[in-house]
Amino acid sequence: MFDSQQTRSLQKLTQELFKGKADQSSIASLRDVLRFHEYRYYVMNDPLISDTEYDQLYKQLEKIEKEHPELITTDSPTQRVGIGLIKDFPKKQHLVPMLSLENSYNAEDLADWDRKVKELSGLEKIEYCVEPKFDGASISLLYESDMLVRGVTRGDGETGDDITPNIKKIKSIPLSATFSEYGIEQVEIRGEILMNKNNFKKYNDALIQEGLPPLANPRNAAAGSLRIKDTEEVGRRNFEGFLYHVSYIGDNGNKSKEPLTHSGMLEMLWNLGFRSPKNEMKILKGIDAVIDHVHSFEAGRDDLPYEIDGMVIKVNSIELQEKLGMTSHHPRWAIAFKFKARQATSKLLQVDYQVGRTGAVTPVARIQPVQVGGVTVSSISIHNEDYIHEKDLKINDTILIERSGDVIPQIVKSFPELRDGTQTDITFPRKCPVCHDKLHKPEGEAVWRCVNIGCEAQVVERIIHFVSKDAMDIRSFGEANVRKFYDMGLLKDVPGIYMLDMNELGKLEGFGAKSVSNLQQAIENSKTQPLHRLIYALGIRYVGETTAKTLAQSVTSIFEFADYSLDQLQQLNDVGVKVAASIYAFFQNKDNIRLLKQLEKLGVHMHRTTAVMSGGNLGGQTFLFTGTLNKMKRSAAEAFVEKNGGTIVSGVSSKLNYLVVGEDAGSKLEKAKKIPGIKIISEDEFLKMIPG
Ligand code: IVH
Repeated sequence: MFDSQQTRSLQKLTQELFKGKADQSSIASLRDVLRFHEYRYYVMNDPLISDTEYDQLYKQLEKIEKEHPELITTDSPTQRVGIGLIKDFPKKQHLVPMLSLENSYNAEDLADWDRKVKELSGLEKIEYCVEPKFDGASISLLYESDMLVRGVTRGDGETGDDITPNIKKIKSIPLSATFSEYGIEQVEIRGEILMNKNNFKKYNDALIQEGLPPLANPRNAAAGSLRIKDTEEVGRRNFEGFLYHVSYIGDNGNKSKEPLTHSGMLEMLWNLGFRSPKNEMKILKGIDAVIDHVHSFEAGRDDLPYEIDGMVIKVNSIELQEKLGMTSHHPRWAIAFKFKARQATSKLLQVDYQVGRTGAVTPVARIQPVQVGGVTVSSISIHNEDYIHEKDLKINDTILIERSGDVIPQIVKSFPELRDGTQTDITFPRKCPVCHDKLHKPEGEAVWRCVNIGCEAQVVERIIHFVSKDAMDIRSFGEANVRKFYDMGLLKDVPGIYMLDMNELGKLEGFGAKSVSNLQQAIENSKTQPLHRLIYALGIRYVGETTAKTLAQSVTSIFEFADYSLDQLQQLNDVGVKVAASIYAFFQNKDNIRLLKQLEKLGVHMHRTTAVMSGGNLGGQTFLFTGTLNKMKRSAAEAFVEKNGGTIVSGVSSKLNYLVVGEDAGSKLEKAKKIPGIKIISEDEFLKMIPG
């Protein structure tokens, strides 16, 4: 879409727009620049400016358009917003019915299909285009005279819901595209809307934080969200759109410019700014090569940033596609190859109840062990009482479970039609299964809680959380040791971690001198963990790692929070009413302040450490190490970066600030050299950044 010369000039224009205030005369450049950065971010996944910088430019455009509404165009980047609530979704007929594909499951199925294609075409070897089968919600888009005019759900294949305002919120879908350059006046395109694994995880984490059950897979997230009536919410969910099929073309009298192959169509879509699977597709001659390819793609399925449930194999020549035509259900020129299912059926045997560190009581279903996506699942969280009713679950039910990528397994549904009279209701307890105190459920919440702060289960869970990897990271402690020491009476609360009697530990079976000294060292090291880790480790409700970082940035000592008002807390980034109330309650509680004072006395740092280096601290800077370091271990260097507010990233991209190059550095260095803005420094230069 943008060649390197255009990229350079748009990047230059970006810098100029940052410097001077844009006015009416720069409106076209502003729009071009914003579209370019949307494309870099949403289609290429390789942004060249930060989110804040994007917002800054966006606001400039918004301001000019407010002052001069006559200059607003329907494809201006600002027109993705402000649509508000949709009243109803009108039904619209697709120009071409959205047929589904025939499925295949193994090499034999594919070979059979290839035989038929060869027979019907009279050809000996067919050229195929093979691409991922995206696992989301399908849509069709209509562009007329280069403008996006509507987006429709699949519906029953003939007619779907017009969800144009929601579609416009998806930034990888261009609001306008110059199809006219290809001789095209009207075009209908099919594709899939999906949430990538990363965003899905964030979305599910937020649901969990709210005490709501997470969704089983990104497909459900996409399908459910497209019909949401609040377009702003659709925007917040960060969907991506992959466009993989041109189903209708109305030409503008210049048919000669239209691509003649399916792969050519994908190239065209990519060049026009769509996220088509141009980089993921492969053109292969003959079915044997296709079979090899789909198998190797399946093996790498987990490394993709989004979920796919198979591959789609398409005859590449459009002329041949037209010749092959379709049956009443499927096109004959394409077939889906389905990967091994990540769903399985099992039996729900019994339900146990676990008490978490906040007192939340979670029902856990014990199920007949079953293999799903390569792992054996024998228990599965069923979240809360409402969830049990919504999913209509009973003991001894047959259930369908799904394990999607690295998402924890979920129950998709029960099969009431398979009940044989042996099923019994699941009765949620009203007393804590551990301390037997009465459980409470505040109005409007879904979770039953044990509010006894001294409840043994909660104390143990709080300690487990405190020592965990993302919190104080006391290695070699771990869940099993916390439970063991607690049960033996050697550890009774969080401060107890720093008062453990090492002599007693040394007497335990399996605890040699080496393990005792490792544990002692790890406990000692944890005392100087950065403040945000301590805040997270305290397990304040709704305070995840990100909020903990925001909180740590705003104080120099943790005790300052005792003087923060609810209002002040709400002023902080991403801290809403509920989160603020929880933080406020925590620091107003005298027992909690006492606990912090006790930890301080035991040597745990309560202050934000701002390392002063030649150029300031590492806050907000990203680092990556490559090659062999000679003067310090890589793990120590990485720990130093993190301790000083920097972040270690996993790969070279424009998000990287510093690449630290050791001996024999290879491809990362080569890649970094091509990206302006990455500072490439030696180990010595890095060492100079270390204070003292
Ligand atoms: S082609 C006329 N390509 O899988 C053929 N479909 O039943 C149009 N899907 O309904 C479909 N990835 O929703 C095609 N690369 C891909 C796809 C894909 C996912 C979906 C689509 C379709 C279903 C197959």
